[in-house]
Amino acid sequence: MKLYVCKNYDEMSAKAASVVASVITLKPDCVLGLATGSTPVGMYTKLAEMNKEGKLDFSEVKTYNLDEYYPIKASDPQSYRYFMDKNLFDNINIDKANNTHLLNGEAADADAECAAYDKAIEAAGGIDIQVLGIGNNGHIGFNEPSDPLVGPTHKTGLTESTIEANSRFFASADEVPKHALTMGMAPIMKARKIIMLVSGKGKHAVLREMLSGVITTKNPATLLNLHDDVTVVCDEEAYNG
Ligand code: PGA
Repeated sequence: MKLYVCKNYDEMSAKAASVVASVITLKPDCVLGLATGSTPVGMYTKLAEMNKEGKLDFSEVKTYNLDEYYPIKASDPQSYRYFMDKNLFDNINIDKANNTHLLNGEAADADAECAAYDKAIEAAGGIDIQVLGIGNNGHIGFNEPSDPLVGPTHKTGLTESTIEANSRFFASADEVPKHALTMGMAPIMKARKIIMLVSGKGKHAVLREMLSGVITTKNPATLLNLHDDVTVVCDEEAYNG
């Protein structure tokens, strides 16, 4: 696990953007695994700036996002599709209709949707770099702390702590969807390269546990210790607590 401790959120975002940009530069038709949440927003802004300046081309890039609330309409401003359009896809020269993929929060058959998503990732050649955040409880995607973790992409319930954490984006905790579709641990671990962004004191404990090398399903991020190409980019607040 490679670790970069950056001074602040802005530096973390710039560093992470440079890592993702290097993958796109080396392989213009690469497959990006993307994440939502407040942490990667600064990185997406920087990637869009590089695109605007003509330094980075997304015309052949394909993306697969980690997760989506379920059920939720794509047009709902709380959906992760809406978030990705607003924070990245509408600001870069990506082929949004054909090359950006999220789990469909409107799918009638959630299990079929999830199985098809794993197949589509494989058919695209697998994920070249997966961007991850980390929940206050150590979740990655919506793989929540639990005795068993699930390999394939699947429908899952959200823990109380995640509903509470995500309620800041909603009028109240009652409005946070109680379920989601999420990439399972298998497609995440199969990504050729992983970059995790970690910002703020609230992530200190789970970050330090992951960096300690321990592996426990009670902190799903610790399983990244089993992957051989993980780059963690954090800020000093997350690192020092
Ligand atoms: P955050 O979420 O970036 O909004 O803190 C991270 C996550 O839950 O994975």
